[in-house]
Amino acid sequence: MNEGLARRLGAETARFREEGVYKRLNHLEGPQGPRVRMEGRGEVLVLSSNDYLGLASRPEVIAGAKAALDRHGAGTASVRFICGTLALHRELEAALARLVGTAAALTYVSCWAANEGLPASVLDEEDVVISDALNHASIIDSVRLCRAQRRVFPHSDMAALDEALRETRGARTRLVATDGVFSMDGDTARLPDIVELARKHDAVVWVDDSHATGVLGPRGRGTAEHYGLIGEVDVVTSTLGKALGGAAGGFTAGPAEVVDYLVQRSRPQLFSNALPPAVAGGALAAVGWLEAHPEAVARLGENTRYCRARLSEIGFRPMEGDTPIVPILLGETSKAIRCSERLLDRGVFVTGFGYPVVPQGTARIRCQISAAHTREDLDFACEAFRKVGVELGLT
Ligand SMILES: Cc1ncc(COP(=O)(O)O)c(C=O)c1O
Repeated sequence: MNEGLARRLGAETARFREEGVYKRLNHLEGPQGPRVRMEGRGEVLVLSSNDYLGLASRPEVIAGAKAALDRHGAGTASVRFICGTLALHRELEAALARLVGTAAALTYVSCWAANEGLPASVLDEEDVVISDALNHASIIDSVRLCRAQRRVFPHSDMAALDEALRETRGARTRLVATDGVFSMDGDTARLPDIVELARKHDAVVWVDDSHATGVLGPRGRGTAEHYGLIGEVDVVTSTLGKALGGAAGGFTAGPAEVVDYLVQRSRPQLFSNALPPAVAGGALAAVGWLEAHPEAVARLGENTRYCRARLSEIGFRPMEGDTPIVPILLGETSKAIRCSERLLDRGVFVTGFGYPVVPQGTARIRCQISAAHTREDLDFACEAFRKVGVELGLT
């Protein structure tokens, strides 16, 4: 057996430990929720999950998953086009298209796979993809995988986007790629400007709404709904692994022709199994629940405003924004990890992010708020932040 690789990587992770940037995995012993049982810790408050609506442990979602498991078994043991498509997939895809306001949708085993499958299959050398610098890693990798020319514009810089669109005039298709809500900074894409520029230059708009589906807009339909632009975004990708039940899975939504083409050509669709029935059934129940409960989206907004205000009162400076992603910049990665460990000692589970997830020197604690948090939960968390802020000299 060759031992060189393991030895080299072992030495590197030992260095991560020495530098205080090693990521330790915390093991949960029960369902995700506003409070969880963590191995070795007992009950802790979670301020770090994407379970924005509290649907991960919602009885209706669990019942939907169980019913699908009973009806369809564990899975299709096949990719979609061979013999792996269930009527349940069609039903879920219709519900997702309705939710985000497009003609059609196609599910994948993750939003990572949905993103990876998009530019590489619909663009080639004659085309250009123009991507925001802070887009999610899955968009960055998807762009690297495709043969189109690439342009990256500084984060939310509309003048730079305009310039990139001017300079690429003559290309067959220009695809402008942006997160709806940026996962590390918690800000929202300047979608009205992006749509206007795209229309002016005859470009296609692709929004990854993973942190916006179920979160933004009065009915949680995402960034487009937030800005009154339902129907104006060409292609939406999003995840089923966050607000929509939190299991796994993703989808691409857009015109029927685009979706049909992806069925024909997108590699994660052609060469990878379908979404498992239990996951699809849970997600379908989650979409139904969201459509019936817009008040949960409003509660998420109220909780977010409350938590941002309390954190500011006790001396922290959360990054600007009005989404439930509330990052607090701390600088060094080791500082963010130490802060997160001290918070966990006080019963609050919130992850510190450092390089390479965010640029060097911009390590942060990223709080994520849920509609399932009570005021007591948020007060408990903010009190822990107050104490740790004083202990570590952060406030
Ligand atoms: C913006 C964005 N896109 C895509 C993904 C990937 O989603 P999934 O977990 O469904 O692969 C994430 C997950 O972190 C994300 O934040």
